[in-house]
Amino acid sequence: MQRNQWKTASEQLLSHWRRSGITHVPTGKPESIPSATEWLELNENSVFEDNDGYANNNATNGGVANDNATNDGAANSDTSTAVVIPASVQTHSISPSPLTTQVARPVGAVSDFVQGNWNTPSLDFVARQAAFQELNEQVMACRKCEDIVCRRQRTVFGAGPTTARIVMFGEAPGADEDRTGEPFVGAAGQLLDKILIASSLKRDEVYIMNSLKCRPPNNRTPVDSEIDNCRPFFESQLETIQPDYIVCWGAIAVRAVLKSTESVGRLRGKFHSYRGAKVMVTYHPAYLLRNPDAKKLTWEDMKMLMREIGIKVPGSA
Ligand code: URA
Repeated sequence: MQRNQWKTASEQLLSHWRRSGITHVPTGKPESIPSATEWLELNENSVFEDNDGYANNNATNGGVANDNATNDGAANSDTSTAVVIPASVQTHSISPSPLTTQVARPVGAVSDFVQGNWNTPSLDFVARQAAFQELNEQVMACRKCEDIVCRRQRTVFGAGPTTARIVMFGEAPGADEDRTGEPFVGAAGQLLDKILIASSLKRDEVYIMNSLKCRPPNNRTPVDSEIDNCRPFFESQLETIQPDYIVCWGAIAVRAVLKSTESVGRLRGKFHSYRGAKVMVTYHPAYLLRNPDAKKLTWEDMKMLMREIGIKVPGSA
C-alpha cells in the first residue's frame, strides 16, 4: 500500500474512533497506546520504515517511531494487532465534547444498570459493534412486510456512533435513503442537517435511525403492523446504544417509541421517557418543508434540548 493511501485509511479510522469515543488504543498486551493520534504516527512509521526509506525522515521529524518502538512492541511488530480492541476492555475514554457523547463511565457497571431504566447492562464498544453487525444482518434478511420487501432496494439500518448520547428517530426511508442505504439523506435529511448545525450538534456525533428499516411504497405512511415488525430491531438498537436522549421526529416516531397516537402538537414542549432515555417530540423535517411556519416551534424544541444538555443557546445570556 502506498504511504498516502495508508495515511488516508488510518486517518479515516482515527476519525471514526474519535466519533466513537476511543481516545486510546488497547493492544493485546496489558498496556495500551495512550493516545489514538499517537497510534497513527506510530504505525505510519513502523509500516514504512523498512519499505520505502521514509523512516529516516520521520525519525528526524519527530523521533516518534523510535520512542514507541521501545514502549510498545506489539503495535510495531504487527500493525493489525493495534486495531483489534479486545473484548476484555471494559472502559473507554470518551472524547471531551459534553454535547454529543456520553460522559466517561465504566461500561457495564452495575450502577449504570440500576440508574437507567434499561433492560440490560450497557455494553462495551466492541460488544456494541458486534451487536449492531448481527442486528443489521437480521434486518437485511427480514422479509416480514410483504408489501414493502419486494419493492425495497436497500435496508436502512441507521448511522452514527453506537456510543451516541442522542438518537434522532425518524419515520421511514424515502427514495434517496432506499437507494443509498443511509438515513436522512434526501431533502428532509438536508433540513435535519441544518437543524442540527443550528443546535450545535454534529450529524456524526448523534445516532440517526427510523421506525422502519425499509421504504414504504411511494413513501406512504407506515402502518402499525409494519412498525411492530420493525420493533424488535429498533428496540434492540436503542437498548444497545442506551442514549440519554431520543428525539422523535414526527408522529410515526412517536408511535414507535412512545407507543402513543397523540399528536406532535400535544406532546411537544416537554420531555417524555423511554426506558433510560428522555424523549423529546417535534415536527418531522418533511412536515417542516411543507409547513415552514412550524420551523419556529421545532427551534423552540431544539432550544429546550440544548438547555437540557448544557449547550449554549444562541442569543441567551
Ligand atoms: N428519511 C429518513 O431516513 N427518515 C425519514 O423519516 C424521512 C426521510
